[in-house]
Amino acid sequence: QKLHLVVLVGSLRKRSTHAALARSLEGLVPPDTQITLLGSVGDIPHYDADLQAEGFPAAVTEMAHAIRSADGVIVVTPEYNYSVPGVLKNALDWLSRLPEAPFGGKPVSLMTGSPGPIAGARAQYHLRQIMVFLDALVFTKPEVMVGGINTKVDVDAGVITDEATRTFVANHLNAFASFVKRFSRL
Ligand code: FNR
Repeated sequence: QKLHLVVLVGSLRKRSTHAALARSLEGLVPPDTQITLLGSVGDIPHYDADLQAEGFPAAVTEMAHAIRSADGVIVVTPEYNYSVPGVLKNALDWLSRLPEAPFGGKPVSLMTGSPGPIAGARAQYHLRQIMVFLDALVFTKPEVMVGGINTKVDVDAGVITDEATRTFVANHLNAFASFVKRFSRL
């Protein structure tokens, strides 16, 4: 049985460089690992406790089910105003309200990028903080922060074109897969 990781993307843009990075992971994971992209966070309505009282939206319960069934989660996101994009935070807020918390005890890897040199580092540390309340087991090193991401991925092909980036992302995935195995039923 393969290790199963699911990927959550924090950008809605059709030509998102982070979605391209997310799609590239399939070709970089160890052979015993399978990757699935989760549904778009854009399909989830704005968090509203009144809406929650009527029942969780299907996009939330489906995402939660996929996360619960997976051995680990990889979040790939850009940085907006030194933090996580609102659409991603909104998805995490919904997921955090479910009775069987999908992130509770779940191994999580964080990957950020930016066209600039700071590579989404500030968003990544905000995301790490959010994950504390979600009780996620957030993987630490080696970190993935991709500066100049717009020059390092091919958005049409969904691959990393920069060799050094491909290597450090693959190294992260190897280390994350070992981390996940320590907690999964495999
Ligand atoms: C940005 N961007 C940005 N970049 C950064 O490094 N730090 C930041 O704080 C911000 N802030 C920010 C706010 C808003 C509202 C937008 C729209 C953009 C640029 C951002 O890094 C860039 O749009 C994404 O990297 C693009 O990612 P996708 O959509 O290609 O995945």
